[in-house]
Amino acid sequence: MLLFSTWVLMAFFTLLSSSVAGEELFEVSVWPEWPVVEAGKALWINCSTNCTYPTKGGIETRNINTTMQQEEAHWKVFHLSNISQNTNIFCYFICSNTQKKKSVNIIVYRPPLQVTLSLQPAWVIVGENFTLTCHVPNVVPLENLTVTLLQGTEKLHRQTFVTESKALQDAWLTFNVTARREDSRSNFSCHAELDLRPHSEQLFSASSEPKMLEIFEPSWNNQMLIIIIITILLLLVFVISVCLCFAYGQHWRQQRTGGYGVLAAWRNYRIR
Ligand SMILES: *[C@@H]1O[C@H](CO)[C@@H](O)[C@H](O)[C@H]1NC(C)=O
Ligand SMILES: *[C@@H]1O[C@H](CO)[C@@H](O)[C@H](O)[C@H]1NC(C)=O
Ligand SMILES: *[C@@H]1O[C@H](CO)[C@@H](O)[C@H](O)[C@H]1NC(C)=O
Ligand SMILES: *[C@@H]1O[C@H](CO)[C@@H](O)[C@H](O)[C@H]1NC(C)=O
Ligand SMILES: *[C@@H]1O[C@H](CO)[C@@H](O)[C@H](O)[C@H]1NC(C)=O
Ligand SMILES: *[C@@H]1O[C@H](CO)[C@@H](O)[C@H](O)[C@H]1NC(C)=O
Ligand SMILES: *[C@@H]1O[C@H](CO)[C@@H](O)[C@H](O)[C@H]1NC(C)=O
Ligand SMILES: *[C@@H]1O[C@H](CO)[C@@H](O)[C@H](O)[C@H]1NC(C)=O
Repeated sequence: MLLFSTWVLMAFFTLLSSSVAGEELFEVSVWPEWPVVEAGKALWINCSTNCTYPTKGGIETRNINTTMQQEEAHWKVFHLSNISQNTNIFCYFICSNTQKKKSVNIIVYRPPLQVTLSLQPAWVIVGENFTLTCHVPNVVPLENLTVTLLQGTEKLHRQTFVTESKALQDAWLTFNVTARREDSRSNFSCHAELDLRPHSEQLFSASSEPKMLEIFEPSWNNQMLIIIIITILLLLVFVISVCLCFAYGQHWRQQRTGGYGVLAAWRNYRIR
Protein backbone atom coordinates (compact mmCIF):
# COMPACT_ATOMS: atom_id res chain seq x y z
CA MET A 1 0.00 0.00 0.00
CA LEU A 2 2.78 2.40 1.00
CA LEU A 3 4.80 1.36 -2.01
CA PHE A 4 1.82 1.96 -4.30
CA SER A 5 1.13 5.50 -2.94
CA THR A 6 4.79 6.42 -3.30
CA TRP A 7 4.68 5.25 -6.91
CA VAL A 8 1.47 7.29 -7.58
CA LEU A 9 3.04 10.35 -5.92
CA MET A 10 6.18 10.02 -7.98
CA ALA A 11 4.21 9.67 -11.18
CA PHE A 12 2.13 12.74 -10.26
CA PHE A 13 5.23 14.86 -9.56
CA THR A 14 6.84 13.77 -12.78
CA LEU A 15 3.77 14.83 -14.69
CA LEU A 16 3.56 18.14 -12.76
CA SER A 17 7.23 19.03 -13.23
CA SER A 18 7.12 18.30 -16.94
CA SER A 19 4.03 20.44 -17.53
CA VAL A 20 5.35 23.27 -15.35
CA ALA A 21 8.67 23.34 -17.19
CA GLY A 22 6.66 23.13 -20.46
CA GLU A 23 8.89 20.50 -21.92
CA GLU A 24 6.73 19.37 -24.76
CA LEU A 25 8.78 17.50 -27.29
CA PHE A 26 8.43 19.16 -30.66
CA GLU A 27 10.36 19.64 -33.80
CA VAL A 28 10.68 22.24 -36.53
CA SER A 29 10.94 21.28 -40.17
CA VAL A 30 11.56 23.11 -43.42
CA TRP A 31 10.39 22.21 -46.86
CA PRO A 32 12.14 21.88 -49.26
CA GLU A 33 14.91 20.28 -47.30
CA TRP A 34 17.50 21.07 -50.00
CA PRO A 35 16.32 24.30 -51.61
CA VAL A 36 17.92 24.96 -54.98
CA VAL A 37 17.13 28.13 -56.93
CA GLU A 38 18.32 29.85 -60.07
CA ALA A 39 20.21 33.10 -59.44
CA GLY A 40 17.84 36.05 -59.17
CA LYS A 41 14.76 33.86 -58.95
CA ALA A 42 12.29 33.32 -56.10
CA LEU A 43 11.62 30.41 -53.80
CA TRP A 44 8.82 29.25 -51.49
CA ILE A 45 9.76 27.93 -48.08
CA ASN A 46 7.34 26.06 -45.84
CA CYS A 47 8.31 26.23 -42.22
CA SER A 48 6.34 23.90 -39.94
CA THR A 49 6.23 22.33 -36.50
CA ASN A 50 4.47 19.48 -34.74
CA CYS A 51 4.09 21.48 -31.51
CA THR A 52 0.45 21.40 -30.31
CA TYR A 53 0.17 25.11 -29.52
CA PRO A 54 3.03 27.11 -31.06
CA THR A 55 3.09 30.69 -29.79
CA LYS A 56 5.36 32.19 -32.42
CA GLY A 57 7.17 31.19 -35.54
CA GLY A 58 8.99 32.66 -38.48
CA ILE A 59 12.02 32.77 -40.68
CA GLU A 60 15.37 34.52 -40.37
CA THR A 61 17.28 35.52 -43.48
CA ARG A 62 19.97 37.93 -44.49
CA ASN A 63 19.91 40.07 -47.64
CA ILE A 64 16.81 38.37 -48.96
CA ASN A 65 13.41 39.98 -49.28
CA THR A 66 10.93 37.74 -47.53
CA THR A 67 7.17 37.91 -47.39
CA MET A 68 4.80 35.57 -45.64
CA GLN A 69 2.31 34.14 -48.12
CA GLN A 70 0.12 31.84 -46.08
CA GLU A 71 -0.05 30.55 -42.53
CA GLU A 72 -1.83 28.21 -40.20
CA ALA A 73 -1.16 27.32 -36.59
CA HIS A 74 1.48 24.72 -37.47
CA TRP A 75 3.05 26.08 -40.61
CA LYS A 76 3.95 29.26 -42.47
CA VAL A 77 4.85 29.64 -46.11
CA PHE A 78 7.31 32.37 -47.13
CA HIS A 79 8.16 33.82 -50.50
CA LEU A 80 11.85 34.61 -50.83
CA SER A 81 12.64 36.78 -53.83
CA ASN A 82 15.71 37.74 -55.82
CA ILE A 83 18.09 35.22 -54.30
CA SER A 84 21.50 35.95 -55.77
CA GLN A 85 23.87 33.82 -53.72
CA ASN A 86 24.03 30.82 -51.43
CA THR A 87 22.54 31.65 -48.03
CA ASN A 88 21.56 30.01 -44.83
CA ILE A 89 18.04 30.57 -43.55
CA PHE A 90 16.59 29.74 -40.15
CA CYS A 91 13.08 28.63 -39.47
CA TYR A 92 11.98 28.82 -35.84
CA PHE A 93 8.98 28.10 -33.62
CA ILE A 94 8.35 28.85 -29.97
CA CYS A 95 6.45 26.19 -28.12
CA SER A 96 5.86 26.16 -24.36
CA ASN A 97 8.49 28.90 -23.95
CA THR A 98 11.10 26.92 -25.81
CA GLN A 99 12.49 28.03 -29.14
CA LYS A 100 13.70 25.60 -31.73
CA LYS A 101 15.48 26.45 -34.95
CA LYS A 102 16.12 24.58 -38.10
CA SER A 103 18.56 25.85 -40.67
CA VAL A 104 18.71 25.09 -44.35
CA ASN A 105 21.18 26.11 -46.98
CA ILE A 106 19.81 27.65 -50.15
CA ILE A 107 21.95 26.72 -53.13
CA VAL A 108 21.95 29.16 -56.02
CA TYR A 109 22.75 27.93 -59.51
CA ARG A 110 23.44 29.50 -62.87
CA PRO A 111 22.92 27.09 -65.74
CA PRO A 112 25.38 26.91 -68.63
CA LEU A 113 23.93 29.01 -71.45
CA GLN A 114 26.86 29.72 -73.69
CA VAL A 115 29.50 27.19 -74.68
CA THR A 116 32.27 28.15 -77.07
CA LEU A 117 34.86 25.88 -78.59
CA SER A 118 37.98 27.04 -80.38
CA LEU A 119 40.57 25.03 -82.27
CA GLN A 120 44.13 26.25 -82.32
CA PRO A 121 45.65 26.42 -84.84
CA ALA A 122 42.86 26.43 -87.42
CA TRP A 123 44.81 24.05 -89.67
CA VAL A 124 47.48 21.46 -89.01
CA ILE A 125 49.48 18.80 -90.78
CA VAL A 126 48.84 15.15 -89.84
CA GLY A 127 50.94 14.23 -86.81
CA GLU A 128 51.03 17.74 -85.41
CA ASN A 129 49.24 18.75 -82.23
CA PHE A 130 46.32 21.09 -81.96
CA THR A 131 44.57 22.47 -78.89
CA LEU A 132 40.84 22.35 -78.16
CA THR A 133 39.71 25.12 -75.81
CA CYS A 134 36.22 25.16 -74.35
CA HIS A 135 34.84 28.10 -72.40
CA VAL A 136 31.64 28.07 -70.35
CA PRO A 137 31.08 31.43 -68.67
CA ASN A 138 29.05 32.20 -65.57
CA VAL A 139 28.22 28.75 -64.21
CA VAL A 140 27.43 28.05 -60.58
CA PRO A 141 28.13 25.74 -58.74
CA LEU A 142 31.26 24.83 -60.66
CA GLU A 143 31.74 21.60 -58.70
CA ASN A 144 28.54 20.26 -60.25
CA LEU A 145 29.62 21.06 -63.78
CA THR A 146 31.03 18.52 -66.20
CA VAL A 147 32.53 19.61 -69.51
CA THR A 148 33.03 17.04 -72.25
CA LEU A 149 34.95 17.44 -75.48
CA LEU A 150 33.53 15.41 -78.33
CA GLN A 151 34.72 14.33 -81.73
CA GLY A 152 31.51 13.48 -83.52
CA THR A 153 29.81 11.44 -80.81
CA GLU A 154 33.00 10.00 -79.36
CA LYS A 155 34.13 11.44 -76.01
CA LEU A 156 37.67 12.77 -76.16
CA HIS A 157 38.00 14.24 -72.72
CA ARG A 158 35.83 14.89 -69.70
CA GLN A 159 36.47 17.22 -66.80
CA THR A 160 34.87 18.20 -63.51
CA PHE A 161 35.73 21.33 -61.59
CA VAL A 162 36.32 22.71 -58.15
CA THR A 163 35.36 26.19 -57.05
CA GLU A 164 38.53 28.10 -56.40
CA SER A 165 37.05 31.49 -55.70
CA LYS A 166 33.55 32.83 -55.43
CA ALA A 167 34.24 35.50 -58.04
CA LEU A 168 35.56 33.13 -60.71
CA GLN A 169 32.63 31.33 -62.20
CA ASP A 170 34.00 30.55 -65.63
CA ALA A 171 34.95 27.07 -66.69
CA TRP A 172 37.90 26.68 -69.06
CA LEU A 173 39.02 23.40 -70.50
CA THR A 174 41.98 22.84 -72.79
CA PHE A 175 43.03 19.59 -74.35
CA ASN A 176 45.74 18.72 -76.85
CA VAL A 177 45.12 16.28 -79.65
CA THR A 178 47.48 14.91 -82.28
CA ALA A 179 45.91 15.35 -85.71
CA ARG A 180 45.13 12.19 -87.64
CA ARG A 181 44.19 11.93 -91.29
CA GLU A 182 40.61 10.85 -90.43
CA ASP A 183 40.09 13.89 -88.16
CA SER A 184 39.74 16.27 -91.08
CA ARG A 185 36.13 15.29 -91.80
CA SER A 186 34.94 15.20 -88.18
CA ASN A 187 33.14 17.77 -86.10
CA PHE A 188 34.55 18.75 -82.74
CA SER A 189 32.20 20.07 -80.10
CA CYS A 190 32.00 20.82 -76.41
CA HIS A 191 29.17 19.83 -74.09
CA ALA A 192 28.54 21.32 -70.64
CA GLU A 193 26.29 19.72 -68.06
CA LEU A 194 25.24 21.12 -64.68
CA ASP A 195 23.92 18.28 -62.56
CA LEU A 196 21.95 19.36 -59.49
CA ARG A 197 20.67 15.92 -58.69
CA PRO A 198 19.87 14.44 -56.21
CA HIS A 199 18.89 17.61 -54.30
CA SER A 200 16.94 18.98 -57.19
CA GLU A 201 15.71 16.95 -60.12
CA GLN A 202 17.44 19.29 -62.48
CA LEU A 203 20.02 18.72 -65.12
CA PHE A 204 21.04 21.57 -67.41
CA SER A 205 23.08 21.15 -70.52
CA ALA A 206 24.36 23.19 -73.42
CA SER A 207 26.57 22.48 -76.41
CA SER A 208 28.89 24.50 -78.57
CA GLU A 209 28.63 24.87 -82.32
CA PRO A 210 30.50 22.08 -84.09
CA LYS A 211 33.93 23.02 -85.40
CA MET A 212 35.91 21.39 -88.16
CA LEU A 213 39.64 21.22 -88.43
CA GLU A 214 41.61 21.64 -91.64
CA ILE A 215 44.17 18.87 -91.78
CA PHE A 216 46.77 18.61 -94.49
CA GLU A 217 48.21 15.24 -95.26
CA PRO A 218 51.94 14.79 -95.58
CA SER A 219 51.45 12.39 -98.54
CA TRP A 220 49.93 15.26 -100.48
CA ASN A 221 52.88 17.31 -99.31
CA ASN A 222 55.34 14.67 -100.56
CA GLN A 223 53.71 14.79 -103.98
CA MET A 224 54.09 18.52 -103.93
CA LEU A 225 57.75 18.12 -102.94
CA ILE A 226 58.38 15.63 -105.76
CA ILE A 227 56.72 17.95 -108.26
CA ILE A 228 58.79 20.85 -107.00
CA ILE A 229 62.03 18.82 -107.18
CA ILE A 230 61.23 17.59 -110.71
CA THR A 231 60.40 21.13 -111.78
CA ILE A 232 63.67 22.41 -110.32
CA LEU A 233 65.63 19.58 -112.01
CA LEU A 234 63.96 20.28 -115.36
CA LEU A 235 64.69 23.97 -114.93
CA LEU A 236 68.32 23.16 -114.11
CA VAL A 237 68.61 20.89 -117.17
CA PHE A 238 67.06 23.62 -119.29
CA VAL A 239 69.35 26.30 -117.88
CA ILE A 240 72.42 24.08 -118.25
CA SER A 241 71.52 23.21 -121.86
CA VAL A 242 70.93 26.87 -122.65
CA CYS A 243 74.30 27.71 -121.11
CA LEU A 244 76.02 24.89 -122.99
CA CYS A 245 74.38 25.94 -126.25
CA PHE A 246 75.47 29.49 -125.65
CA ALA A 247 79.01 28.43 -124.79
CA TYR A 248 79.26 26.15 -127.84
CA GLY A 249 77.75 28.81 -130.05
CA GLN A 250 80.27 31.33 -128.80
CA HIS A 251 83.10 28.91 -129.32
CA TRP A 252 81.99 28.06 -132.89
CA ARG A 253 81.53 31.76 -133.71
CA GLN A 254 84.94 32.53 -132.30
CA GLN A 255 86.43 29.77 -134.51
CA ARG A 256 84.58 31.14 -137.51
CA THR A 257 85.48 34.77 -136.81
CA GLY A 258 88.98 33.47 -136.13
CA GLY A 259 88.86 31.90 -139.68
CA TYR A 260 87.61 35.14 -141.18
CA GLY A 261 90.35 36.89 -139.31
CA VAL A 262 92.95 34.70 -140.98
CA LEU A 263 91.25 35.07 -144.37
CA ALA A 264 91.04 38.82 -143.98
CA ALA A 265 94.66 38.96 -142.98
CA TRP A 266 95.57 36.88 -146.05
CA ARG A 267 93.41 39.10 -148.28
CA ASN A 268 95.02 42.16 -146.81
CA TYR A 269 98.33 40.58 -147.49
CA ARG A 270 97.32 39.83 -151.12
CA ILE A 271 96.08 43.41 -151.70
CA ARG A 272 99.31 44.73 -150.50
C1 LIG B 1 7.17 15.84 -32.78
O1 LIG B 1 8.04 14.97 -33.49
C2 LIG B 1 9.10 14.42 -32.69
C3 LIG B 1 9.99 13.62 -33.59
O2 LIG B 1 9.29 12.92 -34.53
C4 LIG B 1 8.49 13.57 -31.58
O3 LIG B 1 9.54 13.07 -30.75
C5 LIG B 1 7.54 14.43 -30.75
O4 LIG B 1 6.89 13.63 -29.79
C6 LIG B 1 6.50 15.10 -31.63
N1 LIG B 1 5.75 16.05 -30.79
C7 LIG B 1 4.41 16.14 -30.84
C8 LIG B 1 3.78 17.15 -29.93
O5 LIG B 1 3.76 15.43 -31.59
C1 LIG C 1 3.34 23.24 -45.15
O1 LIG C 1 3.82 22.08 -44.48
C2 LIG C 1 2.86 21.47 -43.62
C3 LIG C 1 3.54 20.34 -42.87
O2 LIG C 1 4.24 19.51 -43.73
C4 LIG C 1 1.66 20.99 -44.45
O3 LIG C 1 0.70 20.41 -43.60
C5 LIG C 1 1.08 22.17 -45.19
O4 LIG C 1 0.04 21.77 -46.05
C6 LIG C 1 2.13 22.88 -46.02
N1 LIG C 1 1.58 24.08 -46.60
C7 LIG C 1 1.59 24.34 -47.89
C8 LIG C 1 0.95 25.59 -48.38
O5 LIG C 1 2.11 23.55 -48.69
C1 LIG D 1 13.99 44.21 -51.46
O1 LIG D 1 12.97 44.90 -52.14
C2 LIG D 1 13.17 46.29 -52.26
C3 LIG D 1 11.96 46.91 -52.96
O2 LIG D 1 10.97 46.00 -53.13
C4 LIG D 1 14.44 46.58 -53.02
O3 LIG D 1 14.69 47.95 -53.08
C5 LIG D 1 15.61 45.89 -52.35
O4 LIG D 1 16.77 46.06 -53.14
C6 LIG D 1 15.33 44.41 -52.19
N1 LIG D 1 16.42 43.79 -51.45
C7 LIG D 1 17.08 42.72 -51.89
C8 LIG D 1 18.15 42.19 -51.04
O5 LIG D 1 16.80 42.18 -52.95
C1 LIG E 1 18.21 41.65 -56.94
O1 LIG E 1 19.40 41.60 -56.20
C2 LIG E 1 20.50 42.20 -56.86
C3 LIG E 1 21.74 41.99 -56.00
O2 LIG E 1 21.45 41.47 -54.76
C4 LIG E 1 20.20 43.68 -57.08
O3 LIG E 1 21.27 44.26 -57.79
C5 LIG E 1 18.92 43.81 -57.89
O4 LIG E 1 18.59 45.17 -58.03
C6 LIG E 1 17.79 43.08 -57.21
N1 LIG E 1 16.61 43.11 -58.06
C7 LIG E 1 15.38 43.38 -57.58
C8 LIG E 1 14.29 43.35 -58.59
O5 LIG E 1 15.18 43.61 -56.41
C1 LIG F 1 51.93 16.15 -79.11
O1 LIG F 1 51.41 15.80 -77.85
C2 LIG F 1 51.90 14.58 -77.34
C3 LIG F 1 51.20 14.33 -76.03
O2 LIG F 1 49.83 14.54 -76.15
C4 LIG F 1 53.42 14.70 -77.15
O3 LIG F 1 53.92 13.48 -76.68
C5 LIG F 1 54.07 15.08 -78.47
O4 LIG F 1 55.44 15.30 -78.26
C6 LIG F 1 53.43 16.32 -79.04
N1 LIG F 1 53.96 16.55 -80.37
C7 LIG F 1 54.33 17.77 -80.79
C8 LIG F 1 54.79 17.87 -82.19
O5 LIG F 1 54.26 18.77 -80.07
C1 LIG G 1 48.94 21.99 -75.24
O1 LIG G 1 49.99 22.38 -76.10
C2 LIG G 1 50.42 23.70 -75.90
C3 LIG G 1 51.50 24.03 -76.92
O2 LIG G 1 51.29 23.33 -78.09
C4 LIG G 1 50.98 23.82 -74.48
O3 LIG G 1 51.37 25.14 -74.23
C5 LIG G 1 49.90 23.42 -73.48
O4 LIG G 1 50.43 23.42 -72.17
C6 LIG G 1 49.35 22.06 -73.80
N1 LIG G 1 48.21 21.82 -72.93
C7 LIG G 1 47.94 20.65 -72.37
C8 LIG G 1 46.71 20.57 -71.54
O5 LIG G 1 48.68 19.68 -72.53
C1 LIG H 1 29.48 18.51 -89.17
O1 LIG H 1 28.60 19.58 -88.88
C2 LIG H 1 27.98 20.14 -90.02
C3 LIG H 1 27.18 21.34 -89.57
O2 LIG H 1 26.53 21.13 -88.36
C4 LIG H 1 27.11 19.07 -90.67
O3 LIG H 1 26.51 19.60 -91.83
C5 LIG H 1 28.00 17.88 -91.05
O4 LIG H 1 27.19 16.85 -91.55
C6 LIG H 1 28.75 17.37 -89.85
N1 LIG H 1 29.68 16.35 -90.26
C7 LIG H 1 29.81 15.18 -89.64
C8 LIG H 1 30.82 14.25 -90.19
O5 LIG H 1 29.13 14.88 -88.67
C1 LIG I 1 27.24 19.25 -56.24
O1 LIG I 1 28.19 18.23 -56.19
C2 LIG I 1 28.56 17.86 -54.88
C3 LIG I 1 29.68 16.88 -54.98
O2 LIG I 1 29.49 15.99 -56.03
C4 LIG I 1 27.35 17.27 -54.17
O3 LIG I 1 27.71 16.88 -52.87
C5 LIG I 1 26.29 18.33 -54.13
O4 LIG I 1 25.14 17.79 -53.56
C6 LIG I 1 25.97 18.85 -55.51
N1 LIG I 1 25.13 20.03 -55.39
C7 LIG I 1 23.88 20.06 -55.82
C8 LIG I 1 23.17 21.34 -55.67
O5 LIG I 1 23.37 19.09 -56.33
